[in-house]
Amino acid sequence: MKGVVLAGGTGSRLFPLTKITNKHLLPIYDKPMIYYPIQALVDAGIRDILIVTGGKNAGDFLRLLANGKHFGLTHIDYTYQEGEGGIADALALAEHFADGHKICVILGDNIIEGSIREAVDDFRKQPCGAKILLKEVPDAERFGVAEIAGDRIINIEEKPKRPKSNYAVTGIYMYDDSVFAKVRTLVPSGRGELEITDVNNAYIREGTMSFAYLEGWWTDAGTFDSLLRAGNLVAQSAKGRTAEGGA
Ligand code: DAU
Repeated sequence: MKGVVLAGGTGSRLFPLTKITNKHLLPIYDKPMIYYPIQALVDAGIRDILIVTGGKNAGDFLRLLANGKHFGLTHIDYTYQEGEGGIADALALAEHFADGHKICVILGDNIIEGSIREAVDDFRKQPCGAKILLKEVPDAERFGVAEIAGDRIINIEEKPKRPKSNYAVTGIYMYDDSVFAKVRTLVPSGRGELEITDVNNAYIREGTMSFAYLEGWWTDAGTFDSLLRAGNLVAQSAKGRTAEGGA
């Protein structure tokens, strides 16, 4: 399976922090934000990785990440999203890279405590379709929210005013190669973006969407509060590990 990190967009919710740099280069405790989603893919055994970036600072990603030596990689692919047409618009740019393989997509501002290895391994065995990871949250209205019936997701609503569950769809998505045909059928949403939630609902309607619950904490980092929260969570985990190591 190949990996795709989506790090385009303008990060306007973090202005002025993102006025002169890309959101995904901002610090989360002791590392740039983009390190965390890349590490999550690498920890899941994925070594072929594409970074989709955009904006005025795209060259900084190359200077920071180079060929991925920090992650034990020998190579990283890059591509460039013009404008901010939405998450599915950024994903469309990965078609050439995917080249018919399954992909694991992770949003560049999603930070996790645990591992996605088991879910990725399960999806390797899934004949076709998609798989998403859910997390119970207290503020579901900020996210894509899954409506669950028995052991199936029957619909996802993007940022609903009245969420039908407390389960957010995290920004970790696994797709077969039909994802690009699905993206081509999308029309921009009310906020003018091609929505990843519409892609996921297409798989749900097709009956090929599976899901798992993400273990450990999860946060995005795209608002002032979540950016602070992400830094604090990473710092606590790092200190916890040091204390364990020293004990
Ligand atoms: O974090 C999980 C949530 O991410 C999901 O629950 C939602 O269903 C999903 O729509 C998304 O919601 P956000 O509104 O928080 O996404 P945001 O616009 O902040 O974009 C998240 C990342 O996606 C961003 O860090 C980089 C990438 N992105 C986003 C846009 C709009 C791109 O690469 N290109 C884009 O044009």
